Amino acid sequence: MASSAAVDVAGAGRQQALDGSNPAVARLRELIGGHESTAGWSRCWEEGVTPWDLGQPTPAVVELVQSGTLPAAGDATTVLVPGCGAGYDVVALSGHGRFVVGLDVCEAAIHKAKQLSAAAAGGDVGSNFFAFVAADFFTWEPPEPFHLIFDYTFFCALHPSMRAAWARRMADLLRLDGELITLMYLAEGQEAGPPFNTTVLDYEEVLNPLGFVITWIEDNEVAVEPRKGMEKIARWKRMAKSDY
Ligand SMILES: C[S@@+](CC[C@H](N)C(=O)[O-])C[C@H]1O[C@@H](n2cnc3c(N)ncnc32)[C@H](O)[C@@H]1O
Repeated sequence: MASSAAVDVAGAGRQQALDGSNPAVARLRELIGGHESTAGWSRCWEEGVTPWDLGQPTPAVVELVQSGTLPAAGDATTVLVPGCGAGYDVVALSGHGRFVVGLDVCEAAIHKAKQLSAAAAGGDVGSNFFAFVAADFFTWEPPEPFHLIFDYTFFCALHPSMRAAWARRMADLLRLDGELITLMYLAEGQEAGPPFNTTVLDYEEVLNPLGFVITWIEDNEVAVEPRKGMEKIARWKRMAKSDY
């Protein structure tokens, strides 16, 4: 059996292939154990087996922010990043009128996110523009639904049997006039996961019945090298109930 001592499973800050040929992904799969397991994710964080972690904001997020097309109504726009990991995208999305909540089920991930974001802010542990919460996406109850939700490598990290529940939570956590942005890592040919094999149709199958429709979809031209050609970014709106 592979172990973190026997293979190079370094996590953050390297741009790694997210498939079973990468020893870190193989170790991740051992730790997660084939299904969704909070304990498994926690072991990954504790052992530093985080091959998804870019060590920097996702370039597509930086582009989205620079595009000026994200909602930013006064100081009132709230954003959720579920499965935020080390939280680079949370910080990148924050400001310009947006308050961002980074949610992760693992205390160790949230601890790292808080440390990194404080270091980036020169040791200032508080921020008026983002917050990190350790809680389970499937049971967490925020005080209000969000204007915007951003998902990257969360959908594909979940066992496919959880995708319908993922979509129901998106519907619960988003305002009716809100927007969902999915940066879709379209893993294919994998015998196991995470990441699990994923297609755009997989998203549509669970989101369309809840009234979500794609308003814009593009190849992610700024994907990091090992993910080039494997990602699309889609923006979704919800139709009023009578429209679907
Ligand atoms: C593949 S990582 C992606 C992290 C981050 N989005 C990124 O791109 O760096 C998936 C993350 O989801 C978290 N996670 C898994 N199940 C979760 C759940 N039920 N609720 C909240 N977070 C969860 C894991 O701890 C992990 O940090």
